[in-house]
Amino acid sequence: MMDKMVIKIMGLLLTGNRITESSGEFESLTGFIQPANELAKVKNQSLLTMLPILRKVPGCNLKNLYDALKAGKIDLRHCFLNGTEQSMRGLVFMLRSLRVTMEMEGGESWIDDDFIMGVVMDLIPAAIVPLQNTISVLFLVLVHNPAVQDKIREHLTSLNADVTIDDIQKLPYIEACILELKRFHTPLPVSARHCNRSGDAIIEDYNIPKNTEIFSNLFGIHHDERFFNDPWSFKPERFIAEDGSRVGPEHPVMKNMVVTGVGPRRCLGSTFSEKVIFLVVAMLMKNFRLCPNRQQELPLCDPRKFTSGIVTKSPDFTCVFQPYML
Ligand code: HEM
Repeated sequence: MMDKMVIKIMGLLLTGNRITESSGEFESLTGFIQPANELAKVKNQSLLTMLPILRKVPGCNLKNLYDALKAGKIDLRHCFLNGTEQSMRGLVFMLRSLRVTMEMEGGESWIDDDFIMGVVMDLIPAAIVPLQNTISVLFLVLVHNPAVQDKIREHLTSLNADVTIDDIQKLPYIEACILELKRFHTPLPVSARHCNRSGDAIIEDYNIPKNTEIFSNLFGIHHDERFFNDPWSFKPERFIAEDGSRVGPEHPVMKNMVVTGVGPRRCLGSTFSEKVIFLVVAMLMKNFRLCPNRQQELPLCDPRKFTSGIVTKSPDFTCVFQPYML
């Protein structure tokens, strides 16, 4: 259910229109993300690094995945470049408009259809997979913490109006829950590759020679007792100041938050994902109480037990949505 919801959000971002499960856009996003996800698994990446020929061996699963990805790319192009020709909203339209403006101002534009497809294909896995997994961990955290659900509801009642995307700042406890969710889970445990191409760098006592590849251990930072007290517990309160507001950017807990990386290569969907998660939490808690499914054992809510990979995944579980009226 969550996976489908996030695919629809991605469709909205790209086309500016709501997409339904029976639409070509939905099918095309799903058809691309499935093989892309499988190929990104550490096991498959390691195999392909050692034996790249496997992508061409008939009958081999890796070849099937490559073929599916190739077909997915063609379908995406068809749907998002040809299909959104008339749409006046969304990222694809925005890039096309930019191309027209550049051409009008100074001749040729480097934003051709291949460039737009590159952006679309980069964004799909970068956005869909971490968001899907974050929302799944959010549900697990809420089922395990009914007191947090009650407190979120208490804060929502204080609004006395329908929640909108801009209300996040008025609801510091919910903002704190989202920050704590991101810290606790750390969807991408390791940053992307960074490299000091311009020269040697000295950081504190470390000398980092030019061209060293660096991957930051984001999960390690978020679960280090030197930076976060009692790091394996889910405690939104660590982000709340004494006066009930959200702690400021200079507070040590905020300075040590690196969930979406830091610097110029920082995640560009950081604010977008925060707003999506905020709306999911608010809408969900306004209408439902999340309870464990008594027919099934509820997995532990411990990120050390989650499945590691490029994006950390919680175990599969089911829960009950009990209707609730604020
Ligand atoms: C909970 C959700 C998300 C998390 C935890 C997350 C986390 C990250 C992290 C850790 C990086 C690497 C940053 C670095 O190495 O310094 C990254 C990069 C990136 N993210 Fe996200 N991300 C999320 C959602 C999104 C969304 C929704 C989008 C797009 C709408 C997106 C687009 C990107 C892109 C394009 C990059 C590569 C930036 C670059 O290499 O210059 N992400 N993300």
